[in-house]
Amino acid sequence: MPIVVLISGTGSNLQAIIDAKNNDNLPVTIRAVISNRKAAQGLIRAQQAGIATATIEQTQYASREDFDAALQQCIDKHKPALVVLAGFMRILTDAFVDHYQGKIINIHPSLLPAFRGLNTHQRALDAKVAEHGTTVHFVSRELDGGPAIIQAKVPVLANDDKASLTERVLQQEHQILPYTIRLIAEGRLVYANNNIYLDHQQRLEPLQYPPAENKHHPLPL
Ligand code: GRF
Repeated sequence: MPIVVLISGTGSNLQAIIDAKNNDNLPVTIRAVISNRKAAQGLIRAQQAGIATATIEQTQYASREDFDAALQQCIDKHKPALVVLAGFMRILTDAFVDHYQGKIINIHPSLLPAFRGLNTHQRALDAKVAEHGTTVHFVSRELDGGPAIIQAKVPVLANDDKASLTERVLQQEHQILPYTIRLIAEGRLVYANNNIYLDHQQRLEPLQYPPAENKHHPLPL
């Protein structure tokens, strides 16, 4: 399955996709990695993996619409079946989101719908929640509001600070993002008519990671 990955920063989630492809036969071709920041460290990871890269600098565009149009053009050149937002820190226009409806996913560092937006780990600590985590969801017009596909929960420990909690959530992100991409690439996870189907069964709640054993579909690890 051809994919394009969008990043803004470190790119550790991008690295997890690259590693899953190289080590665990994740059935994707990463056609390009596109950043909105030329200093994004993830661009170096992509180059080291021999993946085409591009930067669309937001400072070069007068409006959000112009930026998104340029981004869309850059993505569509690569004809991806799926666009993966892996730490892409930008709000997207409705026109852009509509163009990729059902073919664009995002990873967000919280158990959505809790803690949409930024600084989720500190907000989870401040709110003294017992559980935090991460969600992969389809992207909709609403910020961090599209249908959730899968979540991984992370207990908040008494001695956690922002750094320790961030690290443990990231470890889970590196599992659930490649896992979700695999489900989509294998045709097991389908988004149609605003519903999510896994193995032909409609899912009303997000999947939980790690998933329960399924004798018909051994777990891809
Ligand atoms: C991740 O926590 C992701 O959930 C959020 O941005 C962070 C990106 O990290 N959207 P990285 O660039 O993949 O290391």
